[in-house]
Amino acid sequence: MSTVTLAPTRSQLISSETEQLEEKLATLHLTGAPAPLQLGKSLDGFQKADLTPLIGTEFARGVQIVDLLKASNADDLIRDLAILVSQRGVVFFRDQELTIAEQKQLGTRLGELTGKPASSKLHIHPITAEGSEGGDEIRVITSKERNIQRATQDRAAPARAEKTGLSAANWHADITFEPVPSDYAILKIHTLPSFNGQVTGGDTLWALGYEVYDRLSPSFAKYLETLEAVHESRFFHQIAASLGRTVRDGERGSPGNVGPHLEAVHPVIRTNPVTGWKSVFVNPNHTKRIVGVTKDESDTILKYLYSLVQLNHDLQVRFKWEKNSVAIWDNRSAFHTATFDYGAETRTGDRVISLGEKPYFDPSSKSRREALGL
Ligand code: SIN
Repeated sequence: MSTVTLAPTRSQLISSETEQLEEKLATLHLTGAPAPLQLGKSLDGFQKADLTPLIGTEFARGVQIVDLLKASNADDLIRDLAILVSQRGVVFFRDQELTIAEQKQLGTRLGELTGKPASSKLHIHPITAEGSEGGDEIRVITSKERNIQRATQDRAAPARAEKTGLSAANWHADITFEPVPSDYAILKIHTLPSFNGQVTGGDTLWALGYEVYDRLSPSFAKYLETLEAVHESRFFHQIAASLGRTVRDGERGSPGNVGPHLEAVHPVIRTNPVTGWKSVFVNPNHTKRIVGVTKDESDTILKYLYSLVQLNHDLQVRFKWEKNSVAIWDNRSAFHTATFDYGAETRTGDRVISLGEKPYFDPSSKSRREALGL
């Protein structure tokens, strides 16, 4: 007699808190103003180069973000910057004078000028300390915090035994456990590791989610467009505890992002409202389960989608940081991973994450290649 494995229902896969929150979310206007936006000409006079054909553009040295923010046509410049980031996945600047306040201003304006919902502000990370120096909306990305976390995890031998040793397991889009996740992220690194007297190590890689979608066969892509996935990151409770904190459970930048359960359900294929292009939207750090299929099917599908991100180096870009380099990326359609190759050396920076719309899939949206006629 054959065994029939039934797929658990959506309600069985998510917590009751998430179900209750979804009822509240349905009453909020969280879609923004989705409409593909055309890249204007305001940035044409600035020298910049595409780092690969698919992903990553770097502005020439000397271009200062703060000058864009203060220009008389700042709204045009920042809107075009946001569109460029959404099209190219990630954009880089060198040697920036950007202050923390200006970094937050940029984080706010990128989304506001491209139609995000009014209630989506800057994210407050669940493990950011109350009263931290840069303010609630600054997540200090620091190897010191990571070293404390690792020391705690190393004491938890069973947890360590469950963890993969592969660096590629760290690919993610930021904070997808939030019902209203990020549109843009801005990271400025000011302290870098060095080896043999040379600044090196701690590179970051990004991968283009639109292109991951474009590598699927049309019939498999169509099937994935019907699916949702559960994202859950309750591991932040352990991390917060290892740092002597508790998870921030008040509003984390949106009325949709509250509570300690750190769980959300999102479409597996998502439309980016700025470009109108479809992107794969699951990641190894935060996505736990595809809804409506068995665990084995979910594991198999997720593993395949992750392999497209991790194994296709032609849809990735690797960035070597210098002191005060800035990266701005679109978390809706780009994945990233840091490189932890710097041992006990210090690497520190400040990250601002802005919140966008509640992820949605628009069946009339196009893939990137389709939209560009490729
Ligand atoms: C992040 O995951 O947002 C930080 C990336 C980095 O540290 O390079």
